[in-house]
Formats: sequence, C-alpha cells, structure tokens
Amino acid sequence: CGVVGYVGSSPATPIILDGLKKLEYRGYDSSGVAVLDKDGLKVEKKMGRLAELEKVLAGRELDATVGIGHTRWATHGRPSDVNAHPHTSNDGKIAVVHNGIIENYLQLREWLTSRGHVFKSETDTEVIPHLIEHFYKGDLVEAVQKTVSHLEGSYAIMAISVDQPDRIVAVRQDMPLVVGLGEGENFLASDIPALLKYTRNCYLLNDGDVVELRADQVVIRDITGKIVQKEIFKVTWDAEEAEKGGYDHFMLKEIHEQPRALRDTLKGRISHKGDKVILEEINMTPEQIKGIKKIVITACGTAYHAGLVGKYVIEQLVRIPVEVDIASEFRYRDPIIDKDTLVVVVSQSGETADTLAALREARRRGARVVAVTNVIASSVAREADDIIYTWAGPEISVASTKAYTTQLVAMYLLALYLAQHRNTLAAGNIKEILSELKSIYAKAQEVLDNVEPIREFAKQYHKAEDTFFIGRGLDYAVALEGSLKLKEISYIHAEAYAAGELKHGTLALIVENIPVIALATQQSLFEKMVSNIKEVKARDARVIALAMEGHTEVEKVADQVIYIPKTHPVLAPILTVIPLQLLAYYMAVNRGCDVDKPRNLAKSVTVE
Ligand code: G6P
Repeated sequence: CGVVGYVGSSPATPIILDGLKKLEYRGYDSSGVAVLDKDGLKVEKKMGRLAELEKVLAGRELDATVGIGHTRWATHGRPSDVNAHPHTSNDGKIAVVHNGIIENYLQLREWLTSRGHVFKSETDTEVIPHLIEHFYKGDLVEAVQKTVSHLEGSYAIMAISVDQPDRIVAVRQDMPLVVGLGEGENFLASDIPALLKYTRNCYLLNDGDVVELRADQVVIRDITGKIVQKEIFKVTWDAEEAEKGGYDHFMLKEIHEQPRALRDTLKGRISHKGDKVILEEINMTPEQIKGIKKIVITACGTAYHAGLVGKYVIEQLVRIPVEVDIASEFRYRDPIIDKDTLVVVVSQSGETADTLAALREARRRGARVVAVTNVIASSVAREADDIIYTWAGPEISVASTKAYTTQLVAMYLLALYLAQHRNTLAAGNIKEILSELKSIYAKAQEVLDNVEPIREFAKQYHKAEDTFFIGRGLDYAVALEGSLKLKEISYIHAEAYAAGELKHGTLALIVENIPVIALATQQSLFEKMVSNIKEVKARDARVIALAMEGHTEVEKVADQVIYIPKTHPVLAPILTVIPLQLLAYYMAVNRGCDVDKPRNLAKSVTVE
C-alpha cells in the first residue's frame, strides 16, 4: 500500500525503511526492500510489521545507494513472505514494487508461462518484472514503457535492474506517486509524508508519466514518450496534514475517496457486454444457488446497515426471503438456519468478534457463508465459503464511510448474481441496473461537489441536541446509517424512523426548530414522504430533504432540498448516504469533536 524509492549517495535501506514507516498509517500486512550494490540485486521481504523486516536486515552491510521498498495490503494472494514485494524477473536481474491491481494478469501470466517464465508468488504484480525482462533490450525506460502498454488496471510501479544500476524507472496510472527532489539524491514515494524528512520539493505526476530517477537527474516522459518539464511543487503542510492528503481529517478524505473506491469495487465484476455480474470468489454451483431457501445477513454497526439495504434489494430482485440480524443477537438466539440457508456476513475489518462468532455458528449449523469484507485473508475471509471483497482500501477513521458504500456495491452485485442464476429478472432489467451501477462513481463525485448547502446547514444547526432522520423503504435503511454517523462523531442524539411510524410515537417529540432530515429518493414512495414531511412541518420542525433530481415538488414542503443525481431507485442509497456522511462530519467539526477518534469507540471491536 506504500512505495518508496531512493537513488543517491547515502545508504538506501534506512531511508526507504524510514519512508515506509511514514506510510504505516495506510495499513499493510507485509513489507520488503530491494537494493542494488556492487554484488548485484538484494531482496528481502517479510510478512507482518516493518519491525520483522528490520530484524532480517539488522547487521547487514548497508552500502547500496539505490533501492525500492514496499508495504503491501494484500489484493491478489494472501499475505505471506513470498507474496510480499519486491518481485523479481525470471533471470533475477530486475526487481519491482507495485501498488494497485493488474486486472489482466492471468492472461499475461499464462502467456509468459508458455514462454518459459516461472512464477513464485500468487500475486498479480509478479507479471510486471517478467514482462520488463521480456522487453528489455538495453534500456529500462523503454522496457517499462512497453510493459505498461500491456497492463490493464491501476498501478504505481518502480523497477530497478542490475544492468542499469544507477536508476529507478517508475510509472503511474490511477495510483499516487510523487518524486522528491534532493541535492545529489532523489526520491520516489506513493505519498508525500514519506518524503518530508528529506525534501519539500516535489514533482507531481500525471497518469502515464514514466520517471527515470538518478542521483543527479530526473527525466519524466509523458504517455506519448515525450520528455516533459514539470514545475516544482513546494509542500507547505506538516507531516500529519500530509498523511491526510490535505484534508483536515481521515474521515473527510475517506468520504472523498468514495468515487475511486466504488470504481475499484466494480472493476472486473461486470461483463464487457454489461449484461452479467462476474464474482470470481463465489464458488457455489448453479444447483446450490437454485437451492437457497432463505438468506440471513448478519453484521455489526455500519456493516449491519449495509445488510439492511441488502435485504430490500435481494428480496426485490431475487424474491428470496431475507432476514437481517445484528451479529451479537444472531449468535445467541438459536437461529433457524440449515443447509438451504445462505448466510452473508458483512465486516469491513473481517475481525469483529461477534460477526466472526456468527459466521462460525452459521457454519456449524450447515449453512453456506458468503463474506463481504475489505481485508484480504482476514479471519472472516478465511473462514467463509465464498468471499466478495470490497476494494475500499484501508479505512482509518473510526466512523465507516467508504467501507459502507462499497459494501452496498457488494450487496447489489450479490443480488444481481443470484437473480441472473435464478432467472428472477429479465435480461433487460439486469442490464439496465448494471449500466447505472457502472456510472455510479461519477454521480457520487457530483454529490461530493455539492457540499456547500450541507456545510451551511451544519453551521446553522450544530447546536441541536436532538435530530430525526425519516425515510421509507431503502431510504429508511439509509436513514439508520445517517443517524448512526451523526451520533458516533458529533454526539448529537439522532433517531432514524420509518416515516410511516411517525404517527405511532415519534411525532410527540417533534417540536419547534428540531432538525429533521427527510429522505425522499424512492419514486414509488415519494407522495407518502411528502405527506410525512408535511406532518413534521406542521409541528414547526426544520426539514432538510434529500430527493432525486427532478422531484422539485418537495421544495414546497421542505425548508431546504438537496438533490442527488438521477439513478435507478435501488441504487439511490449509495448517493443518498454521502450528504448524510458530510452532514455528520461538518456537525462534528462545528462542535469541535475529535472526528476520527470519537470517544469510547474503536475501529475494530475484536472483543465481545
Ligand atoms: C465498529 C466500528 C464501526 C463498524 C463496526 C463493524 O463499531 O466503529 O464503524 O461499522 O465496528 O466493524 P466491521 O469491521 O465488522 O465492519
């Protein structure tokens, strides 16, 4: 998840390790370095913390002044010494570190294997050094350029070679990479914090840029191969700010990472024709899929709320009854499940104690378990029968944001996958939803670009002590998540209510000026929501409504309306939750709360 490179006259290893430590906050499961010295290429890599790598390197001669290092967050292939980076070429002369995902690695691997290349790891990355070796004709830059022209996916790559030992060649596509400029030494890193100890002068790179980094020279070529002159970017932030990529908090950064996370989670999972879902980590036979009689989704916290959306969506699209249960309840209530039940556990970390126990209980009773998780080889991933990974990347803020929206994507993919195997949806409908899903990340970006009204609302109402979130259908499920976000980080009391239930109690609590967040994105329930908004307005509540573009009627009843871009109604939750995340965030900031580390809460609850 982090890369660091160094070329200069000082020992490279300590500088690389130091840089990698600065990137530790991004999370990782293994690390490694490769250096070039007078005896050639030396590679060391270890699973676990950086301290494990340091132990191996302790007492070594450190005269190499060129090197690359990596911390890995597993994507293809579980965390292990062998799967850790750097990876080397067949002839052992080239070493590569890589962040990102190479989507077409299987084809490349087959092709290389047919030409006699032997692979040591399970990673997608290993094809890169092999391809560079294949294309190397005396110029590493040229070999890297040819290699990337065959790669599909996202990457920040650094390569070194015994044959040109004075340089690193690096390239990026959809993954961060910056050059740090020193005196007689130069640096590369996936993120600015790794460089700040050594320099504040950087080159920011564009997608497709190829960097040739030497001690006294940095040459950058653009995607067409033309040498480009970059302007020096001076970093004015301190290290802590830099970790947050210029955002004030990790939560805000993670909220803004959602378009990227959504896109990554969908990558490779929709067929080229756009008519089918591909879920490689699901190994159920068509008979097993047809035999499912009931689905139980179980999880904790935000992941549980993703499960609630899953229930609505699966029931609607697949017509299988779905129960959603909090993991700590499920495990103790003698659940009625058997081999015809599909249990879906949802967990960002894959380590939540109650969720793991629920998974074990389900398996003990003979159910098949699908895990939706963000962490490769986490306990939940290891113990489940099938897995759908969310590619949100490490989430640091305690309050979950990008993990939730990518869990929603997993729910949609699972629902459509089941629908396509059980023929519960016409081909045209599947295609329609998939085509909307494909563009959802761009719409998420539109929502993020419209932050001002929310910031304004937060400024006005951050002193509120009670708030209500109301919605119907899928909007109700999202209301629950919106209210949890607000509670967690701003400590404002918030309640989510199915709008139809207002009359059965909550209406008694609606008093003058109380903020009510009304979700009205579901076309079929829109009129009903308008009536509910009138009910709370009649008690002088302050209503901020969320509606889909075009539904301007709501302006007549609400004090303020935030529109989300038009999409298929089942997909609306992905877009609807974003303004609610931002609302919670700005409310908390206005109240001076510790946004990333709310009191009494932990990111991962591994005890009961
Ligand atoms: C904690 C976190 C929540 C998270 C929940 C479940 O309570 O603070 O943000 O939703 O655990 O975590 P999991 O890793 O299982 O998704």
